[in-house]
Amino acid sequence: MEVFVIEGGHPLNGEVCISGAKNAVLGLIPAAILSGGSCKIENVPHINDVNKLIDILEKIGAEIYKEENTLIIDTSRHIAHDCSDFQEEMGKMRASYYLLGALLGRYRQAVVPLPGGCNIGDRPIDQHIKGFEALGANIKIEHGLVKMEADRLIGANIYLDVVSVGATINIMLAAVCAEGTTIIENAAKEPHIVDVANFLNLMGGSVRGAGTDTIRIKGTQGMYGCEYSVIPDQITTGTYMIAAAATGGNVLIKKAIPKHMEAVSAKLREMGVIIEESVDSLRVIGKRPLKAVRVKTLPYPGFPTDLQQPMAVLMTVASGNSTITETIFENRFKYIDELRKMGADVVINGRVASITGVEKLSGTKIAATDLRAGAAMVVAGLMADGETRISNIEHIDRGYENFESNIRELGGIIRRETP
Ligand code: EPZ
Repeated sequence: MEVFVIEGGHPLNGEVCISGAKNAVLGLIPAAILSGGSCKIENVPHINDVNKLIDILEKIGAEIYKEENTLIIDTSRHIAHDCSDFQEEMGKMRASYYLLGALLGRYRQAVVPLPGGCNIGDRPIDQHIKGFEALGANIKIEHGLVKMEADRLIGANIYLDVVSVGATINIMLAAVCAEGTTIIENAAKEPHIVDVANFLNLMGGSVRGAGTDTIRIKGTQGMYGCEYSVIPDQITTGTYMIAAAATGGNVLIKKAIPKHMEAVSAKLREMGVIIEESVDSLRVIGKRPLKAVRVKTLPYPGFPTDLQQPMAVLMTVASGNSTITETIFENRFKYIDELRKMGADVVINGRVASITGVEKLSGTKIAATDLRAGAAMVVAGLMADGETRISNIEHIDRGYENFESNIRELGGIIRRETP
């Protein structure tokens, strides 16, 4: 099992380009099944979750050609609607659940293993099921498989009891091929929802209102292939912003969308970090001392839950008492124990982490407990005194393209070792 070895105390300086958004492309790849043709998707990040999803799609019949950061996905041949043979690999990732909506939309039937994903909470899919049933699907969940079939898919009004990114996208995938109009209310508004809606519209779909809490989908028959480019990754952008601030560096983050970062920029500015925005880039200049701040994670456009962990790392060296409240997932503080090994002063009370700033963290052996916690541990190591060794870094490889090479190019001292 590989580890990252980091020598802390070196400010990050220079430029970094942001790759395509993981949580957008993991919706776009299954959505291509609906085209029954050939879809070209550019700006696809080289990350393991994408590789796993490509592998699954090929196993059920799609033909996929990869060159650099471009995928050409041909689903003109019949795609198997039954994915039960891939229970193991699909149980390791969250986004495999999008095959439910895509296969139901195209074939009116689907057998897909229950999804896995980061261990940050219960992660039910009841809202996905609620949407599919509203569209006319009969659903059974047995032996770890979600089995769905529908004579017809009929447009429906669906109110999401919980603002859910996955359920919003999954219902869009099935509704775009239904008869009549579907309205999703209390929909998630993340940038990646808009990306998937734009892609569906290029395939001949009719999706209106993505990015608001009410999405209208007019069912259309005869979808077709298209060309698309994935938006930059909001969470990767925020991770580099926080790393620049944490190391007192000066980093130009290119191919980013400042608008998507508003909540993160606002909180970093409150801490005293300098952020200069232009059309497609942000310059982040870390300043010391950092001021304590209060953060609450919320659905977009609020502060993203996926940046809760890196932000908490920054707060550990802010002067005063910061708090971070996790309102989305019920178990997303497991990494705090790792930070305490580095000298962080954190008290957890339910969904609130109260952080008292210390002078410095000190490097030691720690572990990545999930994808975003892993990135947060790297930020901690970069700003800590001495050497930090991070194990379980396979979590990080799921969602960050060229992470250690980008950090090295910015002047960070990090290497991958196989102990
Ligand atoms: C997506 O997960 C992302 N994953 C997560 O990113 C992200 O943290 C999350 O959205 C929130 O932005 C992918 O896109 C692959 P949700 P998802 O459905 O769809 C509850 C990362 O690090 N809920 O928006 O699973 C759920 O328990 C990952 O890139 C239900 O109750 O998130 C949670 O409390 C981590 N019933 C809340 O809603 C449901 O049917 C938000 O979950 C679905 C969700």
